[in-house]
Amino acid sequence: ITKMATNITWHAGLTREERNKYNGQQGLTLWLTGLSASGKSTIAIALEQHLLHNGVTSYRLDGDNIRFGLNKDLGFTEADRNENIRRIGEVAKLFADNSTVTITSFISPYIADRASSRKIHEDAGIPFIEVHVDVPLDVAEARDPKGLYKKAREGIIKDFTGVSASAPYEAPVNPEIKIENDKVTVEEAVQIIVNYLTEKGLVT
Ligand code: PPS
Repeated sequence: ITKMATNITWHAGLTREERNKYNGQQGLTLWLTGLSASGKSTIAIALEQHLLHNGVTSYRLDGDNIRFGLNKDLGFTEADRNENIRRIGEVAKLFADNSTVTITSFISPYIADRASSRKIHEDAGIPFIEVHVDVPLDVAEARDPKGLYKKAREGIIKDFTGVSASAPYEAPVNPEIKIENDKVTVEEAVQIIVNYLTEKGLVT
């Protein structure tokens, strides 16, 4: 960022409460985090479908619509991942502000970046639910659906999360939801998340 905007003013328009009332639901962000090949996207897709089929407007942010679009200028250095997650946090907040159950599915390896995303939501009064999609590294590596772990071990991919010293995965310390994704089916994982939302009265 080279220049900050000046002379801009904040226009207060409709309140979120009004939008929620007319949209018939409240927004929130479900923030999935986990290693590559932990199953984040699979759960996110199934969850989005489940919610939509049950009349809950939901939208998924993931690599397909973010790293190929808004964030196509970013790679996998620490600084680029910080910026990737910062932008995603802001976009998720906008969707959630507009009454959408927003599901993000990114490795988001750094505790500080996830905390920043949480903060901008909580400062705005929007629920932020961190979901750790947890599998041991050796399980993710054995799955290796895209062959990326193999390439990382061979040194063909640098800065690979969980493999390279330069690219750690910092697991959540106290996530709202932890899914041990080597022990449950996709349907069970979805049910764990839906149960949480229902019990907290966040979806009806
Ligand atoms: S991050 O760390 O949150 O910015 O990463 P994310 O935007 O989720 O992108 C992860 C997907 O990019 C592919 N990929 C890599 N992952 C980790 N490290 C490196 N170096 C890398 N290079 C490419 C990989 O397919 C990730 O997809 P998933 O679905 O997580 O396996």
